Amino acid sequence: MADPHGPREGQATPLPSADPALLRVEGLSVAHGALQVLWEVDLHLAEGEILVVLGANGAGKSTLLSAIGGHLPPLGGRLVLDKVDITRLPASRRARMGLILMTEQGVFPDLSVGENLRLGAWRLGRSEAAASIEEALTRFEELAGRLRSPAGSLSGGQRKMLGLAKALAGRPRVLVLDEPSAGLSPLYVKQVVADLASLRRDGPAVLLAEQNVAFLELADRVAVLEGGRVRFTGSLTELRRDEALAEAFFGLEGRAPA
Ligand SMILES: Nc1ncnc2c1ncn2[C@@H]1O[C@H](COP(=O)(O)OP(=O)(O)OP(=O)(O)O)[C@@H](O)[C@H]1O
Ligand SMILES: [Mg+2]
Repeated sequence: MADPHGPREGQATPLPSADPALLRVEGLSVAHGALQVLWEVDLHLAEGEILVVLGANGAGKSTLLSAIGGHLPPLGGRLVLDKVDITRLPASRRARMGLILMTEQGVFPDLSVGENLRLGAWRLGRSEAAASIEEALTRFEELAGRLRSPAGSLSGGQRKMLGLAKALAGRPRVLVLDEPSAGLSPLYVKQVVADLASLRRDGPAVLLAEQNVAFLELADRVAVLEGGRVRFTGSLTELRRDEALAEAFFGLEGRAPA
């Protein structure tokens, strides 16, 4: 039953605390039907920070991101965006606040490249949307010549690029990315890592779920999700110091001193 003291559906309540985190996940528990998948997950993301959530298949990464985006109601816990409790806000309200989720699919294949970008910019006013789409096309030049093509006709790598461009077109404050490497060849993975690295200056805070360790070079901090629980949070150097985790993610190379 709803907490009588909590915010009602659709109501944003500013919290009184001076919280330095832009996004805070507190004790989040989530289930798919009767199957509990996340157990009291605690994470935070500061302004401009890149947090990489590492986890194997089935660890609960997509479930976590989906709950953050507002697509799965939590069993318990709280989500706070810029001091506002968003736990009960619908996905559209979160997106309007600048919390933008790029799923593994990332784009609408039946819509054109241009339509995808315009959808990405929906939360902005007309002139800001035009400017943000222009910016995205300057960053991803390959897309500029394909504006009228259906997104489904792009290569896997270009589709990922469009997904990123679409997300950026909404000028996110927090960009949440679910396995941007999924289905990409190593060359395209490198490209996506480089695209994300170029966002560093003045870019949004990024929460990125991956099992590909190539993305760790972007990470200010790393969290490891295992069986739906946070097993580790810390720097990459600290992760490499944890022998079991280092071996799991980096193989024998992980045991060498960082
Ligand atoms: N819609 C669903 N209905 C029922 N169970 C689900 C659903 N989606 C995910 N699960 C289960 O929840 C668990 C976590 O899945 P999730 O997709 O969050 O993991 P993941 O870390 O994103 O994995 P992957 O790396 O394969 O994408 C798995 O046991 C999965 O079978
Ligand atoms: Mg997943």
